[in-house]
Amino acid sequence: MRDPLPLPPRRVFLEAFGCQMNVLDGELVLTDLRRRGYELADGPESADLLVFNTCSVREHAEERVLSRIGQLRGRKRREPGLRIAVMGCMAERMAADLVRRAPHVDVVCGSRQFPRLAELLDRAESSGQPVVAVGEADPAGAARDVGVRPEKFSAYVSVMRGCHHRCAYCIVPRVRGGREESRPVREVVEEVRSLAADGVREVTLLGQNINSYGRGLPDRPGLPALLRAVHEVEGILRIRFLTSNPMDIEESLLDAMAELQKVMEYLHFPAQSGSDAVLRRMARGYTAKRYLEIARQARRTVPGIELASDFIVGFPGESEADFRATVDLMEEVRFQQAFVFKYSPRPGTRAAVFPDSVPDDVKRERNRILLEVQQRHSLAINQTRIGRTLPVLVAGPSERRADRLTGRTRANQIVVFAGSPDLAGRIVPVEIRRVSSLTLLGEVVG
Ligand code: 5AD
Ligand code: SF4
Repeated sequence: MRDPLPLPPRRVFLEAFGCQMNVLDGELVLTDLRRRGYELADGPESADLLVFNTCSVREHAEERVLSRIGQLRGRKRREPGLRIAVMGCMAERMAADLVRRAPHVDVVCGSRQFPRLAELLDRAESSGQPVVAVGEADPAGAARDVGVRPEKFSAYVSVMRGCHHRCAYCIVPRVRGGREESRPVREVVEEVRSLAADGVREVTLLGQNINSYGRGLPDRPGLPALLRAVHEVEGILRIRFLTSNPMDIEESLLDAMAELQKVMEYLHFPAQSGSDAVLRRMARGYTAKRYLEIARQARRTVPGIELASDFIVGFPGESEADFRATVDLMEEVRFQQAFVFKYSPRPGTRAAVFPDSVPDDVKRERNRILLEVQQRHSLAINQTRIGRTLPVLVAGPSERRADRLTGRTRANQIVVFAGSPDLAGRIVPVEIRRVSSLTLLGEVVG
């Protein structure tokens, strides 16, 4: 048997890795644990329960977690009451392997099992054995809690989970489910309504493949219909959504974005590469030409829209010419924001059997070049805002400068400006004076 737990209240600290969906799952877990009497610890040192909310998308993300957990071996010996739980995509992928590698882990909770984390902790307690739970489960209907939400006025809302595509590099269908499951419109709207009643002004609807939202539901509502329904919720001022697969973007979505005033002019649709040969090997289902068409169509249909993308460099077989095609695509589209990743082979994906042929120093150099191109474009786009007055949703005081506020433009640019903290949660007009590639600086007017 294990040593008894410290007397309540127990304190929990959650360390998060990975994407927005993971951030939301972590929030929901903390909400549940708080309801069961846990308090939030200020840091890992003062916690009795450490939760690692993990990501599997690249090997590096997993290595960091394994090393953090490894470091806790000594502490667990000194403090036998310490409990360690690993949740999220890496927990799903490694399952019992994780306990073999790190026997001091108490609970391994897969990416669809997180609503059961408290129950799994209890089971580990009563059995004195590590507990592993992965695979299918129903994560719907979790409660929200203002005290836990990372931002007071903005919230994530999960609308669908899983991804039915099989992109060759991607672990997501394996760790988050290959079958897509959408929440009914009514349920999403209920959640958004209660968030609005809690003071939330902006919601970001999340789905691994959000453009196929609603396909499995009885009346096949689709993302445009969901946006229209959420648009009706009083108190919500802004709506965003993530992430769009270029393959699934339909004209009706762009029309809805143009029509619905609360839906922000920002579209994140990862290109991954600008080379048709690479896109084919990645099984992305579109060509560079088709991607450029969507970008043009988005700009035509939704005035003022800014575009964002992800790129993978060094995918197996990526030649210098393939890479130049990616640079060309970036130059042609001019994204406001792009995230660049070095290819990392993931066990069990289709690309895992392709030789990882691009040497790491070449990947690093290509990564650097794309980031440089992107920085130039971000700066140029931000410069077009100088002298303009933009509506900014104020998030609150800046973390770096307490006498400044931060917020975002409709097109998702970060704005820093002076103003009273009372403005938080409101949309204020800010005249842009100076910009960098990352930030707009301005003054509140009027
Ligand atoms: N290696 C590198 N980057 C990857 N991504 C997904 N899988 C991999 C991988 N195996 C990137 C993609 C995706 C983003 C979330 O992570 O660009 O859009
Ligand atoms: Fe990481 Fe993908 Fe899982 Fe998000 S869904 S945490 S990006 S592996």
